[in-house]
Amino acid sequence: MLRIAVLGAGRIANIHAANVAANPNVQLSVIADPWREGVDALAARLGCAAAYDCAEAIARDDVDAVVIGTHTDTHIDYMLRAVKLGKPVLCEKPIDLDFGKAAQAVEEVERLNGNVMLGFNRRFDPDTLQMRKAIAAGEIGEVRQVIITSRDPGLASLDNLKHSGGIFRDMTIHDFDTARTLLGEEPVEVIAIASRLVDPDLAQLDDWDSVMVLLRTASGKQCHINCCREAVYGYDQRLEVFGSKGMILNDNHRPSSVRTYSAGQTEVREPLLNFFLERYADSYRIELNQFIDAVRAHQPLPTTARDGLKALHLANCALESIRTGRAVKVEL
Ligand SMILES: NC(=O)c1ccc[n+]([C@@H]2O[C@H](COP(=O)([O-])OP(=O)(O)OC[C@H]3O[C@@H](n4cnc5c(N)ncnc54)[C@H](O)[C@@H]3O)[C@@H](O)[C@H]2O)c1
Repeated sequence: MLRIAVLGAGRIANIHAANVAANPNVQLSVIADPWREGVDALAARLGCAAAYDCAEAIARDDVDAVVIGTHTDTHIDYMLRAVKLGKPVLCEKPIDLDFGKAAQAVEEVERLNGNVMLGFNRRFDPDTLQMRKAIAAGEIGEVRQVIITSRDPGLASLDNLKHSGGIFRDMTIHDFDTARTLLGEEPVEVIAIASRLVDPDLAQLDDWDSVMVLLRTASGKQCHINCCREAVYGYDQRLEVFGSKGMILNDNHRPSSVRTYSAGQTEVREPLLNFFLERYADSYRIELNQFIDAVRAHQPLPTTARDGLKALHLANCALESIRTGRAVKVEL
């Protein structure tokens, strides 16, 4: 029985801890977070030990693997502690906001043959998995263009966004990873534009709320990512992959497929699922289960620390494109 520590008792760690507790092949040994009230309540609910020191939790004898869901600036420390003890890690994105620090950490993980999976949960969304399967089976021929739409239902407070690292490293980073996996080739060029159409005060944080990014691969495949921090109709998450023999796309998700018809309106449907915790619930579960299955079978993990670095680099290239007004070559 694989025994797991979950670090963090906040939003994302709640999801991971519940998914660990629900997996019959593992034991949730401990949840750790310096936020005593939060960790005590979560551990009591899931029936495991609570700890207030994450480093101690990683080192416990009854912990074989670690899931990191704490604040971004703690990821590298906890990741390297676990790797040095030979314990596999599922770590939330991003590795760190500082590219230099993240690059050093990834090199260290690789030097130590560490087993680290980066939490790009959208790869494990059932829609995305089905699309990737269809692409791999040649159903749409050679991929030519990918279009990714990712809009949040509403802007978080400036106080929260202050620690986010900005829209590219916090939000669009998921889309950079999705672009890499759907294109099937690494982007070599990035062009980005950015605006403050929702809240001009984001200038105080040197951040933006509405961005568009173009990516091009060496063979000329293209991707268009558009992200906005506010969509009044809800969480808008759509993918379209266009190829030489067809196209594959998905729709937004809703609580049900019910449609209402009346004298004034037709095809009226329920609102979109509210936000990422609801929309991507399946993806978090599948991601965690794939981590567990790979660790138990001594198989390679489905994503790596280097995947985290590549997505972070694309985010930085987009920032450079905005600052210079030019296309940026991806050199990594
Ligand atoms: N994959 C996704 O869809 C997704 C979604 C949300 C957040 N995230 C990532 O997950 C991480 C956590 O985000 P969140 O929204 O859950 O944040 P959160 O604020 O809800 O939770 C973070 C937790 O970390 C704890 N913490 C703070 N400092 C700590 C320290 N030094 N050691 C241990 N714990 C510490 C806090 O007490 C808090 O409970 C971030 O890196 C974020 O980017 C990923």
